[in-house]
Amino acid sequence: MSSYNILLLGSGGRECTLAWKLKQSPLCGNLYIAPGNAGTAAYGTNLPFAVSDFEAVKKACLDLQIDILFPGSEEPLVLGIYDFVKNDEALKHIMVAGPSKDGAQLEGSKAFSKKFMQRHHIPTAAYREFDDGNFDEGIQYLQQHSLPVVLKADGLAAGKGVVIAQSTAEAVETFTSMIKEAQFGDASKTVVVEAFLSGIELSVFAMTDGSNYVLLPEAKDYKRIGEGDTGPNTGGMGAISPVPFANGAFMQKIIDRIVVPTVNGLRSENIVYHGFIFFGLINVDGEPYVIEYNCRMGDPETEVVMPRLENDLVELIVKMHETKLNEVTVQHSPKAACTVMLVSEGYPGSYPKGRVMTGLENVKGSILFHAGTAQKDNDVVTSGGRVIAVTSYGDTLKEALSVSYANAEKIQYDGKYYRRDIGYEF
Ligand code: AMP
Ligand code: GLY
Repeated sequence: MSSYNILLLGSGGRECTLAWKLKQSPLCGNLYIAPGNAGTAAYGTNLPFAVSDFEAVKKACLDLQIDILFPGSEEPLVLGIYDFVKNDEALKHIMVAGPSKDGAQLEGSKAFSKKFMQRHHIPTAAYREFDDGNFDEGIQYLQQHSLPVVLKADGLAAGKGVVIAQSTAEAVETFTSMIKEAQFGDASKTVVVEAFLSGIELSVFAMTDGSNYVLLPEAKDYKRIGEGDTGPNTGGMGAISPVPFANGAFMQKIIDRIVVPTVNGLRSENIVYHGFIFFGLINVDGEPYVIEYNCRMGDPETEVVMPRLENDLVELIVKMHETKLNEVTVQHSPKAACTVMLVSEGYPGSYPKGRVMTGLENVKGSILFHAGTAQKDNDVVTSGGRVIAVTSYGDTLKEALSVSYANAEKIQYDGKYYRRDIGYEF
């Protein structure tokens, strides 16, 4: 049986989980992670370059005879790493587990994704798009819009480009600073203004080869820093899978109205897509709507999705590359999984780094996926806002949560914080 050398790009909890999952495959040859963290080093070799340094990616691919390039985050995908590889004679044989630059626009441009959904009749909030050219019209539009109203910077803004304005004054002020003062740089030159949808969110994941798709386990993440979903948004404070309200009937609506039209829409528009689609959805009175697309897996959703995926991930990537996903049947574990993210005090604002972590070896019955950690001499130290994800399985969600919470207590570092209410609604 042949095996594949893999280069995974990223350094978060998602990439640590992907490294853990890839390493379990008999098809996994040498595994490299760039730049990685203290956790990924247990599964492969960390390489010291940034995910956006395409020349360094190229050199590593050639020197290390990489067969599969797996961009974990959106940044390299939106910058066009797929096209970079496919347009280079020396690299083009490499399988890229992610979409082309055009496909990554589903995440890279909110205006593109809204227009795409409109063209393919995919349910999403009503919207209008504005820039400097129709700025005055935008102000008028906001003045008559119901509240709250949602403003989204068109481009990537490190997860900060969405503002839910509670008053018209706040909406007008935000709109003005996005367009006229480049609040999010070029990303907010164009702004999508959309209706606020009220409901409970969930994340659904597909792998598509452009013709076929398979669904991975669904998940729910907890974005706010504070318990009871209060305070500022973070990258994600925890996640659960499965999602109790995502029953067969609801998932079927998602497949029929959202997943299939998205995959068919990409194909009908000749958009090259061999990769993950993350559907950020909201359940409005039993009906699913798309809040956003992402062109990669979620973080911290990956920390519960991959543990519940029973298939060989390397095999799925190879089938995705060969447009043969119709040949695989995806198996989801019947167990529940949860992850609780331990973060640094101050996050999502500024936070200290370099705090020594202890007690990791006392953790029993959970899997630790490192996020913002680094190795310093003989110590593991904090190096990010989100530090480490504590993932557990259980026969029930409650059981999984009790294991993660017991283990979260055993890990020590100055300024440790975590939400104690992950999965609270269920
Ligand atoms: P996004 O970056 O598009 O995922 O938006 C960030 C968060 O803003 C989402 O996870 C939602 O919680 C919220 N959000 C975005 N759009 C809407 C909307 N139309 N209605 C309600 N909440 C929204
Ligand atoms: N957890 C949300 C994201 O990965 O974008």
